[in-house]
Amino acid sequence: MALTSLAMPLLRLLPAERAHELTIRALKAGLAPGRTPSDDPALRTRLWGLDFPNPIGLAAGFDKNAEVPDAMLRWGVGFTEIGTVTPRPQLGNPQPRLFRLVEDQAVINRLGFNNEGLGVVTARLTKRARTGIVGANLGKNRDAADATADYCRGVATLAPLVDYLVINISSPNTPGLRDLQRRSEMGALIHAAVEARDAIRLDDPPPILLKIAPDLTQQEIDDIAGVALGSKIDGIIVSNTTVARPASLRSANAPEPGGLSGKPLFEPSTAVLAEIYRRTQGRIPLVGVGGVSSGADAYAKIRAGASLVQLYSALIYQGPALIGRIKRDLAACLKRDGFRHVAEAVGSGADRIRSGVDRQGA
Ligand SMILES: Cc1cc2nc3c(=O)[nH]c(=O)nc-3n(C[C@H](O)[C@H](O)[C@H](O)COP(=O)(O)O)c2cc1C
Repeated sequence: MALTSLAMPLLRLLPAERAHELTIRALKAGLAPGRTPSDDPALRTRLWGLDFPNPIGLAAGFDKNAEVPDAMLRWGVGFTEIGTVTPRPQLGNPQPRLFRLVEDQAVINRLGFNNEGLGVVTARLTKRARTGIVGANLGKNRDAADATADYCRGVATLAPLVDYLVINISSPNTPGLRDLQRRSEMGALIHAAVEARDAIRLDDPPPILLKIAPDLTQQEIDDIAGVALGSKIDGIIVSNTTVARPASLRSANAPEPGGLSGKPLFEPSTAVLAEIYRRTQGRIPLVGVGGVSSGADAYAKIRAGASLVQLYSALIYQGPALIGRIKRDLAACLKRDGFRHVAEAVGSGADRIRSGVDRQGA
């Protein structure tokens, strides 16, 4: 721990993408606690037949190529999500393409699905022992002629190797990707992905989740909830980064094109989460992500309707010790309000969060 608190300010001096590469290299070289810390029983939760030791997960984009899932699990996350991985390797957009907004505790990225492709990722996942919950976030290649075929390849290839799959139709850095959130496209895509999974006849087929954007109108939220309820989707992750630029941003990097994450995303993504929870009547498990940087934030996501929570940007500013702090403070919040388990608190505050989404759609 002392090493990481020393390294954090040094990493901050480097360009953001270089700091990320060094962090992955250090984790590969063994920078992680030897043993996973044990969690407060109040944090345990069971979903899709999986036992999560705690509801705090690492969001997609940190470990795009499945290099360090087990190291991150040892840092104490309850689950980790590799990817986004596309069928073929691709370089992504020209650098620089990752920017810190220090004054805003935020990040802008326009990486564009840089990744080593399904072949390399499959080889890595095949080698690991299946302990700890790992999901895979799937995308399409930028030049794909058939988006559905790309997602289905990801599903068929990785379904035997991971605990859950995510259909990512919300990254802002692949042209046309977010159009797949339209009512007409989404239903057909979910149907094809479920068929691709079921065709390989696994004993324990992994659940398929959808990851959506925070930049949605009320009508679009309604459409997504409607399609999801009428489909075999197992869960929804709310949300990816935003293309909006709140007026509150102070950093000089704010005008950079790309997806904004971190603190300024908390309110709009939580508002969409609560809205999706209400419109799906709590019938589809939700994963809340966007701007979580404390136990209170994680608790707010759960109260808004999330059964699980993910984070990424806050780790850039606070380092991996944040994971333990969030879990401790979340357990304290649950106890203070008389909830015995995470599951009891899910959605208990969803009705109170209404205003944000109106502003979001404006
Ligand atoms: C550098 C960076 C890369 C990301 N790459 C991906 C990605 O490949 N796939 C994806 O679904 N989300 C990606 N995300 C979005 C995160 O998974 C998450 O939805 C978003 O950052 C909001 O959470 P946060 O505010 O805690 O960072 C990325 C985010 C960042 C900051």
